[in-house]
Amino acid sequence: MPTLIVTKRDGSEQSIDADTNVSVMEIIRDAGVDELLALCGGCCSCATCHIYVDEKFASQLPEISADENDLLDSSDHRNASSRLSCQINFTSALDGMRVTIAPED
Ligand code: FES
Repeated sequence: MPTLIVTKRDGSEQSIDADTNVSVMEIIRDAGVDELLALCGGCCSCATCHIYVDEKFASQLPEISADENDLLDSSDHRNASSRLSCQINFTSALDGMRVTIAPED
């Protein structure tokens, strides 16, 4: 099973055996990481699923949509690695990807 490695806000890491063809947000949430609020449930309207993605995997990720880009712009913590985790479908090509939960806005 592919693995997703999550760094939480306290700096601790959690390695998750992840299903494919579900969003990174769902994987993190279903693993019990409750600091990723994901308030809108994944419909790209809240930005509370903000993560930073390992640059090594940047080329494997889906393009940022206009909606995702606008929402990320509303965050004080956006950087070049920012993505909304509900907009990334997890595939076996992302095995071993590291993501960091962004600070709360
Ligand atoms: S869960 Fe709301 S934008 Fe991702």
